[in-house]
Amino acid sequence: MSTRRHHLALLAAAALAAGGAMAQSDTVKIGVILPMTGPSASTGRQIDAAIKLWLAQNGVRAGGRKVEVLVKDDAGVADTTRRLAQELVVNDKVVALAGFGLTPLALATAPIATQSKTPMLVMAAATSSITEASPYIVRSSFTLPQAAVSIAEWAAKNKVKKVVTLVTDYGPGNDAEKFFVSQFQLNGGNVLDKLRTPLRGADFAPVLQKVRDLAPDALFVFLPSGQGAQFMKQFGERGLDKAGIRLIATGDVTDDDQLNDMGDVALGVVTSHHYSAAHPSAMNRKFVADFQAAAKFRPNFMAVGGWDGMRVIFKALDTTKGAGGDALLAAMKGQLFESPRGQVLIDAQTRDIVQDIYIRKVERKDGQLYNVEFDVQKSVKDPGKLK
Ligand code: PHB
Repeated sequence: MSTRRHHLALLAAAALAAGGAMAQSDTVKIGVILPMTGPSASTGRQIDAAIKLWLAQNGVRAGGRKVEVLVKDDAGVADTTRRLAQELVVNDKVVALAGFGLTPLALATAPIATQSKTPMLVMAAATSSITEASPYIVRSSFTLPQAAVSIAEWAAKNKVKKVVTLVTDYGPGNDAEKFFVSQFQLNGGNVLDKLRTPLRGADFAPVLQKVRDLAPDALFVFLPSGQGAQFMKQFGERGLDKAGIRLIATGDVTDDDQLNDMGDVALGVVTSHHYSAAHPSAMNRKFVADFQAAAKFRPNFMAVGGWDGMRVIFKALDTTKGAGGDALLAAMKGQLFESPRGQVLIDAQTRDIVQDIYIRKVERKDGQLYNVEFDVQKSVKDPGKLK
């Protein structure tokens, strides 16, 4: 048998095991794949800490079974993600896969979820189309169209007439650019140029010089979590703030993981996103306090995607009494619950998350920088799926 056919046979066998009479072992396993090293390591560190917090708070049992969480490091390399997913399904017989720090890592794993009928909880990656790559994908993070549409509307209503966009050149950046531009133009705005930087080794100096020369009212930016601090530094060094060019962005740029170290240049930056560590609810205050006590750093939106993702898997395991496959998937669909970010729903049709999107401004409070929410759009479905 060819290697590929051999893999398919193994995955099909895993699917049978998941759907049929499971060996009544007392333990069920969840396979989490995260970038714990490499350029996206902050995403892995945040989600790993959130998973540990969830287990510490809620215990390691679900559906009458002991739950074992296996965390694997893919270093942000898609071939590694795929190999690890295969091993987790075939050798470890996990009932669910989870994690996925970047879009290409989620897309590389989708066929494995489909072939083995293993529910795959995307806790981080945020390109709209990911949930369409497999009927076994469920998402607890967000989508870029959710974030980008709201900030485009805010900008058009707040004296921003001419904009340049700057995004990272891959899935979520394409989504951010497309949905920002179409909403902004619909509201009468003028887009002077659309700039892109590569995912790896981005140097913002040349594009920032170009933005300076174009002199828009505002620069709209999407960069994946982890790149915001470097960008913000160069934005300040190039004097764009002093030149009167407003910075608007999705919340990935003023990421709570790095925000506190960004300094004064970040003050006043307006962004849209689904989570801020400053979200003023009792549940979030407790989440942030517990997280900081355990992890010694501030949770960001990735942490919330991980913590909520654990909730979705555990509640589903409660329903299925530990069984996996289609039953577990069905039990994930339609979950409605309060998250540290606000009320959320796992849409049963799309398997994507429906959530509030907040408009926030960076402010200093008690000596620390926060994304302070001042407006909200309630129950936003992914605009990428309304077409
Ligand atoms: C993604 O690759 O889908 C991604 C990563 C980081 C973000 C947003 C999207 O902040």
